Amino acid sequence: MTKTLIVYGTRMGMAAKTADVIAEVLSSKHKHTVDVVNLKKSGKVNLDDYKNVIIGTGIAIGQWTRHVKKFLKNNLKDKKVCFYVCSGEARAENSEEKLHVAIKKYIDDKLVKYPKIKPVATTAFGGRLIMFGKPMVDNWKKEHIEDWVKEISKNLK
Ligand SMILES: Cc1cc2nc3c(=O)[nH]c(=O)nc-3n(C[C@H](O)[C@H](O)[C@H](O)COP(=O)(O)O)c2cc1C
Repeated sequence: MTKTLIVYGTRMGMAAKTADVIAEVLSSKHKHTVDVVNLKKSGKVNLDDYKNVIIGTGIAIGQWTRHVKKFLKNNLKDKKVCFYVCSGEARAENSEEKLHVAIKKYIDDKLVKYPKIKPVATTAFGGRLIMFGKPMVDNWKKEHIEDWVKEISKNLK
C-alpha cells in the first residue's frame, strides 16, 4: 500500500483545503493511504512510514509560512517530494504566464536555499482572500488540484 503524507502551512485556509482535495483524490482514485498534517498544530512529524511527502504553503507578502520552512530541514532524501503553493497571483485570469511567474517566484527561487529538497513535481494553485466579507482574490479552483494530482500520481511510489 502506498503511504503518502501531506503537510501544509496556511494563514487563510486555502493550503489546507488544497491538502484535503489532494488527499481525497489520492485515496479514492489512486488507493493511497494518506495522512494530512497542519504543521502549525503538529509536533515533530514521524516520516518513517511514508514514501511520498507532499508539502504545501500559502503565500503572504511573498513568503511561505515559517512552519513549512522549518519542515524543509527534515531529511527527505529517500522520499518522493511534491511541493505546492496557494498564491493570489498564480492563477489570476487563468493566465499561463502568471502561473509560470508565480512558480518561479514562490517556488523555484526559494527552493534554491534548500538544495537537498528535490521535488518530483511543483505547482502554484490560486488563492482566496476575503476582506470585509468580500472576495478580493478568488482564483482557487478544485479542478486545478484534481488535474495536478492526476499528473503527479504517475510519479509517486
Ligand atoms: C496579508 C496577505 C498578503 C498576501 N501577499 C501575497 C503575495 O505576496 N503574493 C500572492 O501571490 N498572494 C498574496 N496573498 C494572497 C494569498 O496568497 C492567498 O490569500 C492564499 O489563499 C494564501 O494561502 P492560505 O489561504 O493557505 O494562507 C496575500 C494574502 C494576504 C492575506
